[in-house]
Amino acid sequence: MRKAFPGVVALDGVDFDLRPGEVHVLLGENGAGKSTLIKTLSGAHRPDAGTIEVDGEPVEIRSAEDAARLGIATIYQEFNLVPELTVAENLFLGRPPRRFGLVDRRRMDADAAALLERVGVDARPGQRMGDLGIARAQMVEIARALSLDARVLIMDEPTAVLTTGEVDRLFEIVAGLRDQGVAVVFITHHLEEIPRIGDRVTVLRDGASVGEVPAGTPEDELVRLMVGRSIEQQYPRERTEPGDVLLDVRDLGRAGVFDGVSFQVRAGEVVGLAGLVGAGRTEVARAVFGADPYDTGTVTVAGTRLRGGDVAAALGAGLGLVPEDRKGQGLVLGADVRENLGLVTLGRATRAGLVDRKGQEERAAGMAERLNVRMSGLRQEAGTLSGGNQQKVVIGKWLLAGARVLVLDEPTRGVDVGAKVEIYRLVNDLTASGHAVLMISSDLPEVLGMSDRVLVMARGRLAGELAAGEATQDSVMALAVTGGSDAVKGS
Ligand SMILES: Nc1ncnc2c1ncn2[C@@H]1O[C@H](COP(=O)(O)OP(=O)(O)OP(=O)(O)O)[C@@H](O)[C@H]1O
Ligand SMILES: [Mg+2]
Repeated sequence: MRKAFPGVVALDGVDFDLRPGEVHVLLGENGAGKSTLIKTLSGAHRPDAGTIEVDGEPVEIRSAEDAARLGIATIYQEFNLVPELTVAENLFLGRPPRRFGLVDRRRMDADAAALLERVGVDARPGQRMGDLGIARAQMVEIARALSLDARVLIMDEPTAVLTTGEVDRLFEIVAGLRDQGVAVVFITHHLEEIPRIGDRVTVLRDGASVGEVPAGTPEDELVRLMVGRSIEQQYPRERTEPGDVLLDVRDLGRAGVFDGVSFQVRAGEVVGLAGLVGAGRTEVARAVFGADPYDTGTVTVAGTRLRGGDVAAALGAGLGLVPEDRKGQGLVLGADVRENLGLVTLGRATRAGLVDRKGQEERAAGMAERLNVRMSGLRQEAGTLSGGNQQKVVIGKWLLAGARVLVLDEPTRGVDVGAKVEIYRLVNDLTASGHAVLMISSDLPEVLGMSDRVLVMARGRLAGELAAGEATQDSVMALAVTGGSDAVKGS
């Protein structure tokens, strides 16, 4: 398979085969060509050259309809759901059940409820899709693919936005389908998932297949195949002696969402915020940043008390937020990489009153290089970058912005192993120079490996705090699940 885009060869002669009853993992760095490969199988991209055979017969897959006719269903890395429609409407988009020529809403809602039940997601058929949040949206996307009864199911980073419990549920479903003879393509950057769910692994590097290995292959070997070198230390946290309190959150509450949330982050500290999806972590982060209002409590940044719901004031006080929804809130998709990297610094990047374009360009280029952003150049539109490279640009933007207090919401979601380590090093640089970092992450090894203290949230409340030394995956999960008796949100 071959496919080129302007300025970049995405697929440079990839060979790939898939058998019934297997989960075939597709592994590779950000920009290696994984999504492009599966898009040639789902009809989203026409390859420049190469052949596709199904059951030994050559086929042409020109559209999503062609793929559907061949029994190929795809869960994309970017959601294809329509936020304005209901969950049920999304599940049956383009193929609603009909009665006497009219859409049979009763049946649609009943069928939708059954599908939601099957994947075990807490969502109602009549709920607006846009209100679900991204973890539950992903589960809906999975439910939709399942409803197509495909022979080939392609999943592009389905676990990137899920937490432990949902991943377990997803793996049960995938294993069940595999046992029924469905052929599954599974893309993930979480190496520990591979032996749990995979059978074979094909590794892509720079648009070419560099090897096919069994799923039980040791992680360091997979990393070597993927990035061409080994990675010594996955979590290179360098602690700094904590200084003054830079972020002081007191008794923050929002009716029905979170309550009584108090914590501090000092200069030089990385404080992790762990918990299950829906525990209220993102909601607290958005309230602290002023993106959402709150009813009670105060937020103080470096001694300045912020007004609720005022992002401009938060930015002015030196607070930055890397949002979990990078596409919706983090990036200007139509702008190029240089512009995106410069977005927050723009106001300050002046020399003698003029915008310092040269300096801006240099800083953007330096950051792109450090994070190994795969692109045809700084002029590539952010919207056409691979998923992980988009995430790197959002992070890079905030690291360049020089915020004194940086809130990172799922910073390394979808980022490959090599770039993760580079992001952690940049976090070290920040804390070494007196910045404070609050890191929300569902990736427990990351929280444990990079935080100095871990706060655990459960159902809208802080359930407890653990020092880095004493926190383990089990102790964090125990707090996250039990959470204490007085949770705000009904569970
Ligand atoms: N529509 C497009 N226009 C221009 N370049 C593109 C387009 N789609 C993909 N590319 C480029 O093709 C290369 C491969 O991208 P692809 O999305 O396949 O990577 P990936 O392996 O899925 O990475 P990730 O792990 O980050 O999702 C990248 O260099 C990307 O910038
Ligand atoms: Mg991708």
